[in-house]
Amino acid sequence: MSLRRINPYYRWLFPWLLDRVSKVVAPERDQLLARAQGVVLEVGAGTGTSFSCYQKQVTKLLALEPDTGVVAKARKVLRGLSTEQQDKIELLVADAMAIPLSDNSCDTVVCFLVLCSVPDPKQVLSEIGRVLKPGGSLLFFEHVLADSERVQRWQHRLNPYWHRCAGGCQLNRETAEYIQQAGFELREHERYQHRSFPVLVRQLVTGVAVKSSR
Ligand SMILES: C[S@@+](CC[C@H](N)C(=O)[O-])C[C@H]1O[C@@H](n2cnc3c(N)ncnc32)[C@H](O)[C@@H]1O
Repeated sequence: MSLRRINPYYRWLFPWLLDRVSKVVAPERDQLLARAQGVVLEVGAGTGTSFSCYQKQVTKLLALEPDTGVVAKARKVLRGLSTEQQDKIELLVADAMAIPLSDNSCDTVVCFLVLCSVPDPKQVLSEIGRVLKPGGSLLFFEHVLADSERVQRWQHRLNPYWHRCAGGCQLNRETAEYIQQAGFELREHERYQHRSFPVLVRQLVTGVAVKSSR
């Protein structure tokens, strides 16, 4: 058993904190997830905050999450949904570094505050590209390296400590660039600062990237 699983911080407090942070961005989540359709993979689905945001055009939601403490909370959220919603949702206890789905099997992939936390975002984006159908969409909402050089310096400086206390989250990723480098076309891309977030994680990128249909 990993030490993380028996550490009380990660067992109880971290899932609770994730839940609180997730609620702050509820309007952004609703707006982005309303665009999901067909077979949807949500990477790093966390405590299941997104489950009720998906609309009728979603035929199946595969909610992938490797952390069993967090999955336990997601299961509770799932039990509180209507039978119709529950029937559409499948929890996958798995790592996005090796997604247990076949090639070209998803219409939409959702990454909501998750590419900051995976061990290697380039590997995860390569996996997302593999499981997305040609022409399929990646919907993303992520905190990234700040525009301000002063904030960047603090992000680099504090990253080793932050990383240890925040479930592997990195302050200084350049996620929009990684998405493009992975071969996606950035169809929509907004960069802005969220005033309710602490300054170190205030810079956000959100949008829609599409897997080439060629
Ligand atoms: C900041 S939380 C966001 C959770 C959720 N997306 C939300 O918006 O509430 C980051 C999530 O990424 C998950 N995560 C970390 N490493 C991962 C990996 N290798 N594969 C999939 N998910 C991962 C964490 O367990 C955590 O649930």
